[in-house]
Amino acid sequence: MIDLGPLTRHLPEFVPGSVWLVGAGPGDPGLLTARAIHALATADVLVYDALVGPDIVALVRPDAEREFAGKRGGKPSAKQRDITERLIELARQGKRVLRLKGGDPFVFGRGGEEALALHQAGVPFHVVPGITAGLGGLAAAGIPATTRDTNQAIVLMTGHYAVEGPEATDWAAFVRTGAPLVLYMAMSNLPAIVAAFTAAGLPPDTPMGFVTRATTPDQKVLVTTLAGAIEDTALAGIEAPTITVVGSIVPLRAALGYGDGRP
Ligand SMILES: C[S@@+](CC[C@H](N)C(=O)[O-])C[C@H]1O[C@@H](n2cnc3c(N)ncnc32)[C@H](O)[C@@H]1O
Repeated sequence: MIDLGPLTRHLPEFVPGSVWLVGAGPGDPGLLTARAIHALATADVLVYDALVGPDIVALVRPDAEREFAGKRGGKPSAKQRDITERLIELARQGKRVLRLKGGDPFVFGRGGEEALALHQAGVPFHVVPGITAGLGGLAAAGIPATTRDTNQAIVLMTGHYAVEGPEATDWAAFVRTGAPLVLYMAMSNLPAIVAAFTAAGLPPDTPMGFVTRATTPDQKVLVTTLAGAIEDTALAGIEAPTITVVGSIVPLRAALGYGDGRP
């Protein structure tokens, strides 16, 4: 077990019969918080998602039960309602239930929905933040999320919603903010997203960056433009999980000396 030394006194008790919704960060086990490590060392049961890598799962108490709740090998993922019902059931058995999610549990990870269901069921829960991929991924790629010279805001958004139709994201409204846009889950919609940004008036030479499997040994970074994005991502084999970033902060990576022999 990892000895957290003087940090131990800052760690709340993981009470039996409760659920901890914990962010595991973007991938590197070295980016786990002390509280996440404490939860791994104490949990009776671990319920984890596909984005949580084996190096992190391996840190759980050896005699804890492990339940996988993600999509694997093309098989459909467990239904969200089934997962929340399972969390409630395990907690009611008096277990310390660790619900571990990639990144931060409350950023595009359905942690909010799970917390709501636990609250409504009267199950005590505790939320442990993690480094979200949209920010950790940028930092790992040498792209500052803000500088005083480039931007006063940054938008974290999903690329997963509909691109057309009544439910569609108002892409033009986001473009009008002028802020860099950081998209989660954009790869399957990329051609439509590029078309929507172009239609919204973003110039073809707008810088775009892609950070895949950020902070892991398989991290890949691609810098291109709006006009080149579709072809260049296909050529580079960029696939999910990837963070896509659009705008003025992307060229800072080269200005910081990344990409030239640095990953
Ligand atoms: C369902 S969302 C979960 C986000 C997570 N809760 C967070 O805060 O990072 C999944 C998306 O997060 C992004 N993502 C998560 N981990 C990543 C990583 N290590 N590198 C790049 N993108 C990542 C990808 O866009 C992926 O499709």
